[in-house]
Amino acid sequence: MSIEKAVAYAEENRDRFLHELKELIAIPSVSSSSEHKQDVQRCAQYVRDAMKVVGFERVEMVETERHPIVYGEWLGAPGCPTVLLYGHYDVQPVDPLELWETPPFEASERDGRLYGRGTVDDKGQFYLHLKAMESWMKTAGKLPLNIKCIIEGEEEVGSESLEPFLKENQDMLAADVAVISDTSMVKKGWPSITYGLRGIAYFQIDLRGSEQDLHSGIFGGAVKNPIHALTDIIGQLKDKDGHVTIPGFYDNVVEVTEEERAAMAELPFDEEVFRQEVGAPELTWEKGYSALESLWCRPALDVNGIWGGFTGEGSKTVIPAEAHAKVSVRLVPNQEPDVIGNLFEKYINEISPPEVEITVQRMHGGRPFLGDLSHPVFGAASRALEKGFGTKAVFIREGGSIPFVRDMTDTLDLPCLLIGFGLPGENAHAPNEWIDLENYALGTLSAIHLYQELSEM
Ligand code: BES
Ligand code: MN
Ligand code: MN
Repeated sequence: MSIEKAVAYAEENRDRFLHELKELIAIPSVSSSSEHKQDVQRCAQYVRDAMKVVGFERVEMVETERHPIVYGEWLGAPGCPTVLLYGHYDVQPVDPLELWETPPFEASERDGRLYGRGTVDDKGQFYLHLKAMESWMKTAGKLPLNIKCIIEGEEEVGSESLEPFLKENQDMLAADVAVISDTSMVKKGWPSITYGLRGIAYFQIDLRGSEQDLHSGIFGGAVKNPIHALTDIIGQLKDKDGHVTIPGFYDNVVEVTEEERAAMAELPFDEEVFRQEVGAPELTWEKGYSALESLWCRPALDVNGIWGGFTGEGSKTVIPAEAHAKVSVRLVPNQEPDVIGNLFEKYINEISPPEVEITVQRMHGGRPFLGDLSHPVFGAASRALEKGFGTKAVFIREGGSIPFVRDMTDTLDLPCLLIGFGLPGENAHAPNEWIDLENYALGTLSAIHLYQELSEM
């Protein structure tokens, strides 16, 4: 059977596959920064050329209002299922740069890991699929099924150009199953299939107390300080038990089932090990739930940043005119970003004191995802991972968000397989991001098997 040849090809070309990933990492495709616009463009070109190497019949770089979408397809298996592969070539900013042990855009190997921005999120993970496809094409001369491939450049900034692309190209993108590697495994040696993701709603709160900054001696005591007003507001968003206090916030939350609870309790997750990895003196999560349930199945509200007033060297006696915060809410089924946005805005306006002017800006959002495990694609994925890793796969949910997942599954009406090869402690979005080198290789093998398994459905 030709799959053995594809597997052998991947093993023989392991070093080259790694070398190419290092080249991809070297392109600083930070989507949020206008300074890197040309780099993002260059990265899209690299991905386009990599798709050509695979042997796709059609490869396109689709310009958008912001960053290009790279699309490729190979439809040479009539009568066979079609996979829609999704990934992102954009990365998060690298600051604080001084905390990186090696430069973020010079991928470097240490202790069985490849360090660099985007190694695991998501360059290494989508690239291994291209290498799995190449392994099929260069040995069998064909893929076992049809593949359509979208690699975008705006995932880390909310995927805003992708929805219009999806809506305008529904027919072109029709497929039987979506495949995404942009998540993690629950533990090394435990290949994982993620069937649930949280959604997100993101806000900026701006407060103004006076026309301009004021002398705190002359005015202090009679003028409301907007930073105090802001911290008061933030303090009223959650109670002591970790519940979000916004009225109506939990109305549509689907409770975790007993079956899921039992399955989660069986996973190799240790709260104390997790605490040590985080490096916090103590953890805190919602009363009545386990840590994993809180991370994966319960909504969460977090202040992502807060600023205002004087923060320079020394002291300056001032009542600042403004205060600001960025707040994100992680959503679970069936919370809708727009509905939560309305509730959030209404509550914040209600509790804001009359001495300040407040505005709430709604930034990007994404809906939560929960797959139907009874769909046969999950069995196929599970068999593929078992062949790739030599161990049984587990089914997990995760707390992160990939906004496009719901857009895609709803618009195209297909199941979605989230098969991630990241690991706990991978430092995604943080300094010293890494991908496990063994996972990069085993992930490639698993993808080779996945296409085979899905083709037999
Ligand atoms: N790959 C992550 C999402 C993820 C990480 C899912 C780990 C599951 C486990 C993705 O690149 C990401 O960072 N998403 C953002 C979405 C946001 C920018 C709209 C997130 O979750 O913060
Ligand atoms: Mn990602
Ligand atoms: Mn990310």
